Parts: sequence; structure tokens; C-alpha cells
Amino acid sequence: MTKNYLEAAIEIAQEAGKILVEESSRPPDIRYKGDEVDIVTQADKRSEQAIVARLNKYFPDHSVAAEEGTGKENASEFRWHVDPLDGTTNFAHGYPCFCVSIALAQRDTLLVAVVFNPVHNELFAAARGEGATLNGKKISVSKVATLSTSLLCTGFPTRNRKASPNLQYYGDFTQRSHGVRRDGSAALDLASVAAGRFDGFWEFGLQKWDTAAGVLLIEEAGGRVSDFAGDPYQLGGPIILATNGLIHEEMRAVALEISRRPPTPVRH
Ligand code: IPD
Ligand code: CA
Ligand code: CA
Repeated sequence: MTKNYLEAAIEIAQEAGKILVEESSRPPDIRYKGDEVDIVTQADKRSEQAIVARLNKYFPDHSVAAEEGTGKENASEFRWHVDPLDGTTNFAHGYPCFCVSIALAQRDTLLVAVVFNPVHNELFAAARGEGATLNGKKISVSKVATLSTSLLCTGFPTRNRKASPNLQYYGDFTQRSHGVRRDGSAALDLASVAAGRFDGFWEFGLQKWDTAAGVLLIEEAGGRVSDFAGDPYQLGGPIILATNGLIHEEMRAVALEISRRPPTPVRH
């Protein structure tokens, strides 16, 4: 059975969102993937199971890359990137900021994207060349033109935290903008740039499933996505800088300046 890609992604994300809401009313069943910060819950697993089952049913020839490892590799040029619960740490603590993120790529080209926040019932969607929407209404990036008047967002990794250079960037960008939020869901952060709520976002070490949907949302909403060098962002690349386009070069210049400074030692 073949379905329209975007229609399928929306249906599946909403179904997964229902599972997350249902699971959020129970005490969280927390497991650790590695150390004591990299969490996985029953909700991540149930959500992924539902998404992967439905994708396999609708698109049996496609590959599915899903965070919890239940996807499958096919000899197809179509690949779904699935984060069944982005914001697991928030979810596990009852902080209602999490989402489902699903995107389809054909080779290196992102075709459709959905980020669904089931708590606020906000569905961000995009199809290449057709713009981005929030609950069916067109969205676009903000028109804020200077870093000093921008609201930014970033995130910190759960794995290998001490190796992350981001505290320095966090400090500098905080001083130079209206502020930097740290909401704990990269997919929602990116969707918020697409919707003009944040003017810029950056993070180190994100995975393909964290960013695939958000990147297409921003591109279709008129924003820009690159690495700190200004080169096109590759899914799974070490750095992502995603902005409304207007503050992109200013943010890049600041990032370059910070990267040239000797690192501040982290106290243990
Ligand atoms: C995490 C969130 C968080 C980001 C982390 C991600 P998860 O994803 O997107 O905002 O800072 O780097 O790992 O683990 O909640 O799916
Ligand atoms: Ca994630
Ligand atoms: Ca996840």
C-alpha cells in the first residue's frame, strides 16, 4: 500500500504522539543506555514500535533509521529518519516539552518533514518546494536582523558531556543576544526557528534523527542551515547552525571568534 509521503508522516506522528501522551500519565519506566544521563523510557520504545510498524506497512521497500534501533536497511534510495521521542529527559521528569520527529530523504535530499508536539497539539509539517506549516497554516522564519535583538536556543549532549565545548558558546551568545533558551528537544528547537519563535539555534553532535525534519522545516520556512564554516549542513554532521538567515553571518562570526580562543578548563 503506497500513501502520500507527507500524509503518511502526519498520520504516523499523530499516532505516536497519542502514545507519548498516554505514557506521560504513568510513572516513567527509565532505563539507562550508557551512563546515568542517557535515558530511554518505555515511551521511546512504544512510540518507535508504532512508527516503524506503520512505515514498514506503507513503504515496505524504504529504509528506516530509527533512534532505538528497530528500523531496517533496504537497498532503497528512500530513508525515513525517526526520533520517536525527542526530549526524553524532559519526558522522564514530567517537563512537557517533547515531540515526535519524522522525515523522509531520497538519497541526500529531504522530501518531507513532520515534528509533532502532542502536549500543545502543534503539528509542524513541510514538503520540499511547498513551504512549511504549523497546524495547516504557513509559517516563516522571523525578521529579526541583529544578534543583539535575537532570541536563541541551543542544547547539550547527554553522551560525553564533558567533551562538549558548548558552555563557552552558551555564555558568549547569552551576553550578545536577548538570551539563549535550552529547551531539551532539538527537533522542537528547530521547528521553533522555522515558526519564527527563535531567531537562531546551534548545537554540537546531533544525530540525523534529531535534525532531519527540523532542517527541512527551516529551509521551507525561508531560513538557513549550515555548519559554523558556512558550508551546507550534512545530516549527522558535528555542528549545526540554523537561523532566520538574517543573523546567520553574525552568529558565524561570533562562533569563529570563540573557536579561536583557548578552551576554558572544565572543573571536575
Ligand atoms: C536529545 C534532545 C536534546 C539535545 C540532545 C539530544 P533525545 O534527544 O534533542 O535537546 O540537546 O543532544 O540527544 O535523546 O531526547 O531524543
Ligand atoms: Ca533526539
Ligand atoms: Ca529520542
